[in-house]
Amino acid sequence: MSAPTVYLDGQYLHRSHATLSVDERGVHFADGVYEVVRYFNGKAFTMAEHLDRLKRSLDGINLRCDAEAVAKISDELVQRNGLTEARVYWQVTRGSGLRNHVIAGDLTPTVYLSAEPAQPLGDEPELPVISAITTMDDRWHNCWIKSLMLLPNTLAKTRAVKASADEAIFVRDGRVTEGSSTNVFAVFDGELYTHPADRFILEGITRNVVIDLAKELEIPVQEQAFNSVDLPGADEAFITGTGTLLAAVTQADGNVIGDGQAGAVTQQLWQAFIKRVQNDCSTS
Ligand code: PDD
Repeated sequence: MSAPTVYLDGQYLHRSHATLSVDERGVHFADGVYEVVRYFNGKAFTMAEHLDRLKRSLDGINLRCDAEAVAKISDELVQRNGLTEARVYWQVTRGSGLRNHVIAGDLTPTVYLSAEPAQPLGDEPELPVISAITTMDDRWHNCWIKSLMLLPNTLAKTRAVKASADEAIFVRDGRVTEGSSTNVFAVFDGELYTHPADRFILEGITRNVVIDLAKELEIPVQEQAFNSVDLPGADEAFITGTGTLLAAVTQADGNVIGDGQAGAVTQQLWQAFIKRVQNDCSTS
């Protein structure tokens, strides 16, 4: 549930008073990009990385907008809502103009931010454990852009939930790409595998933190795609994302992965991830 105060086009206002034009290109064409940033203890985690990715996404669709200003609004929105633990959604669209496939050059972007309260991590948070289904990756070829065009993702996630699973894992040409709103990792023979950050996945900020931590822990990392048929035989699997943080995947399409519990490498990375958050977002 979103916090009461949102930001829309220069104004902080109650969400019930925030309205979009019927000519909004974000609505007609999903013509926009977004970010989600997690705040711990009132501090944004990996803000610089989210800001960089927003800039890349904006460039990717030729949309000009002051990304730095968006980051400042984000901090202010968290404060105005009196939150310390939050997820903040940044959405920048092309703006509103008469419905036309051709993008006019004189549109003013719509900037919308909303915050939702999140659970504090606590001192010794437990690693979440989930199940997944695999599903065809029927998205476009520019998944590196954090586009608002999320229909394949929402349909896939809904299929997962209908199958009593928690996440849908996309498979393109037989290889695991990523989850509907997460990146996917698997452990084979002590080595960590995840899809390379090419145009078929979103280069997750959490993914990159985890890769960084794995290197610090001297866990070998292969940014190399693995086949979906090999997923049930993995020693461990997990997903990462700003909302999820990290969650062990212990079942895929009803097949048990590893011994059906969060594995040792996943646990090690989870502990390291928590330490990184506590270190980067401490109040002292
Ligand atoms: N989703 N892949 C996809 C398709 C995503 O939508 C996301 C994030 C990720 C993980 O990226 P990051 O670690 O930077 O959050 C990977 C956000 C959280 C969302 O849509 O709500």
